[in-house]
Amino acid sequence: MFVLLLAAASLGQAVPPRTPVFTRDIAPILYSNCAPCHHEGEIAPFPLLRFEDVRKHSALIAKVTRSKLMPPWKTVEGYNHFAGERRLSAVQIVTIQRWAAAGAPEGDPKLLPAAPVFPEGWRLGKPDLVVTVPEPASIPAEGPDIYQCFVVPMPDNTKQRYIRAVEFRPSNRRVVHHALLFTDASHIPHPPKYPCFGTIGLLPTLGIGGWSPGNEPIRMPEGAALPLAPQSRLVAQIHYHPDGKAEEDQWSVGFYFTDQAPVRRVVDVGMASRLIDIPAGEAHYVVKAHFTSPIAVDAVGIIPHAHLLCREMRGWAILPDGSKRWLLNIRDWDFNWQDQLKYAKPIRLPADTRFEMEFVYDNSAANPRNPHSPPQRVVWGPGTDDEMAGLHVQAIPVHMEELPELGQALWGAVMRSVGGRFYTPPAPPQ
Ligand code: HEC
Repeated sequence: MFVLLLAAASLGQAVPPRTPVFTRDIAPILYSNCAPCHHEGEIAPFPLLRFEDVRKHSALIAKVTRSKLMPPWKTVEGYNHFAGERRLSAVQIVTIQRWAAAGAPEGDPKLLPAAPVFPEGWRLGKPDLVVTVPEPASIPAEGPDIYQCFVVPMPDNTKQRYIRAVEFRPSNRRVVHHALLFTDASHIPHPPKYPCFGTIGLLPTLGIGGWSPGNEPIRMPEGAALPLAPQSRLVAQIHYHPDGKAEEDQWSVGFYFTDQAPVRRVVDVGMASRLIDIPAGEAHYVVKAHFTSPIAVDAVGIIPHAHLLCREMRGWAILPDGSKRWLLNIRDWDFNWQDQLKYAKPIRLPADTRFEMEFVYDNSAANPRNPHSPPQRVVWGPGTDDEMAGLHVQAIPVHMEELPELGQALWGAVMRSVGGRFYTPPAPPQ
């Protein structure tokens, strides 16, 4: 508490001297930062709107905001700014602590702001195309989390279209923890539904983006609509979290098209390693990878990927002048909160920038998320019991005509990673 007060003071922000009360001080914080997930019918276990509901949980609210467990947001403050960051300010955290310590007083009901309204329909208006999974999925009351892939045909599928925005909508928000969306334009037969965890088990034609509770619809950057090939199928990986009673969910995806063919493209500048072999009990296993881009790019987002044992994820860029730009810093990775992160402002990175990643895994018994008890050796693989390491920088070439050069370099990196056990890339020039 004292440390937090100091932290707030050192930021030069004034801490209100009077005792905080729910109606005037706490409700505005909870309405905008917590209620999007904590309202009736949503993923969080209880609503945080009415005073009575909030008062009941006041001690726990103080605890989880102090420890920064809530709102769930994993990137460390002070490294990168992302769009839609779910983070409380130091002043807001202190205000909540003081309010709870004072016995969670209600205050004058006249000061209570209007409760937030959560839109029921499509956020961006009527979609041009809605794809709904044909059969509802059943989620049992209890048991482990479920990771299910669906392959769904898309109607009106004969011409090339360009996607400008996409919205994922579960029919039951209480159980959908996240969704990842792709398309597949191959003619390879796939089952309509199969279990999948780390990967979707097929090579997608397009990665569309991800959804997690409280997120906005996915919008493509200006001029970078996604080309949706004719005959595409929608592939969705859904993470269901049992909530104590048997539930069903029949999700839909709304597509918004544009006539504007893209003039820019978002490229997945991926770093990944399959060299993962973590001894049982090893508490600090480091996996590294790197990639040097031959062309200048604007990094617009970043998608980290690992499974349950991963704890720390760091990514940075070393520019040709030797300076370092952070791309991602996570110190307590949680597979349950894998957001696809978008930078608040694109990061310009010149040609010959070296992207580096370093992930740390804890395969000791002290890691509460360890799927094995006692710990076992864990190697690379797509299953719940395996591990992966991937950091995907979403980048737009500054000069689109240079795209093939980047494509070639990425292909070379993929080949090296596949043959990684036998081939060591030459050391970078110092
Ligand atoms: C993005 C969605 C989301 C947001 C935003 C969010 N929560 Fe939660 N909250 C959850 C979920 C889901 C759980 C259930 C536990 C879990 O899955 O981590 C939870 C659990 C909790 C718990 C119970 C923790 C426990 O140990 O049982 C508290 C208290 C809580 N949230 C408070 C808050 C407060 C206060 C805020 C805002 C400052 C907030 N949450 C914002 C989704 C959210």
